Amino acid sequence: MRIVDLIEKKKLGNVLTKEEIDFIVNGYTNGTIPDYQISAFFMAVYFKGMNKQEIADLTLAYVNSGDKVDLSKIDGIKVDKHSSGGVGDKISLIVIPLVASLGIPVAKMSGRGLGHTGGTIDKLESIPGFRTELDEDTFINNVNKYKMAIVGQSANLTPADKKTYALRDVTATVDSIPLIASSIMSKKIASGADAIVLDVKVGSGAFMKSLDMAKELAKTMVDIGKSLNRNTIAVITNMDQPLGHEVGNASEVKEAIKVLKGQGAEDETTVALTIAANMAVLGGAYKDFTEAYNKLENIIYNGKAIDKLKEFIKIQGGDERIVDNLDLLPTAKFNIEIKADKTGFISSVKADDIGIVAMQLGAGRKTKTDKIDFAAGVTIVKKIGDKVNKNDTICILHTNIEDTQNTEILAKAAFDISENKPEKIKYVYETIE
Ligand code: URA
Repeated sequence: MRIVDLIEKKKLGNVLTKEEIDFIVNGYTNGTIPDYQISAFFMAVYFKGMNKQEIADLTLAYVNSGDKVDLSKIDGIKVDKHSSGGVGDKISLIVIPLVASLGIPVAKMSGRGLGHTGGTIDKLESIPGFRTELDEDTFINNVNKYKMAIVGQSANLTPADKKTYALRDVTATVDSIPLIASSIMSKKIASGADAIVLDVKVGSGAFMKSLDMAKELAKTMVDIGKSLNRNTIAVITNMDQPLGHEVGNASEVKEAIKVLKGQGAEDETTVALTIAANMAVLGGAYKDFTEAYNKLENIIYNGKAIDKLKEFIKIQGGDERIVDNLDLLPTAKFNIEIKADKTGFISSVKADDIGIVAMQLGAGRKTKTDKIDFAAGVTIVKKIGDKVNKNDTICILHTNIEDTQNTEILAKAAFDISENKPEKIKYVYETIE
């Protein structure tokens, strides 16, 4: 078999066999196929697509490229969730204690942020003492005893996806449905989940810019899950502006605490409850989504959810006092207010640009080795539909960096102000089962 023939085959829109897909993935993982040929192959996939069988074969080839996590020592149905990537996306921080408080085991493996999107592991590490490297026994014992634990993704989990994702990032081939679907689903399958809830984001801060594309991605991933015997649901949610008001690390932890105390913003509370309720249904705690949703809402208002968060922080080695004293979390030296230059209504907040602003302030990494400033971030003061007067503060930049002139310009340009009030946006579009 020659890789050049397989690139040609896909370029002409023909269907690849399982053996051919295995050859490509194995060759790239072990270094016998170079970057430039895989780049050409991905571009051919971008334009010609893949059928269901090819996508399932690609997913399994990624899964088989590295270690698989065995969660069989954990009792019950292990339900996982994954977001297709967004800005201000602190949903995992909220749903872990929420779902665990129903007695459903949440064995979570999460990643770090890269580029304009944040990562759950970085956010949690902003809590003093919080450990995200647990040995296997502690991880399994914590899930069995407390119904929750989190670890950073092991180095050898889906190495083929890791290597190809970095390449896709620099060859403009990230936003391809077969490539995103196989990338996400391979990680979920390798990390041992029995059931999976996918949060497929659509909008300016997401890879899927249109609802039709988001639906197609959602359907593709649900099909992969089903073909591999994993009960899978996808929820399509809005990413036309950052979720909630905070984008950063420590600031997103603070905001997640507010949601679990019943003081969160409407958008993030709705999305978190929707994802958690679907996890509760797949985990077998409830038959009916609405019943699960109402129960979870109750758990927030009766204080159980926040108690479970304290327990979560404590068992991972963190300082749980932060829950009652947010000042124990890192804060930045400089807080720069960005003002509206005219009167009107906020009509859009470019979430991807806000992600870049947060990264430039120190909250994210430009390259894998960059160090994160946990205190840095952006507070979105005005959201879509809000009325603003000239010189009102629209967002606040938090940083320890002294010169932020260019970042301030980018932050201001991320907000569009129109004369007319825009229509209220939907937070959750639809669920694909
Ligand atoms: N998230 C992933 O894990 N992979 C992609 O390809 C895109 C988003």
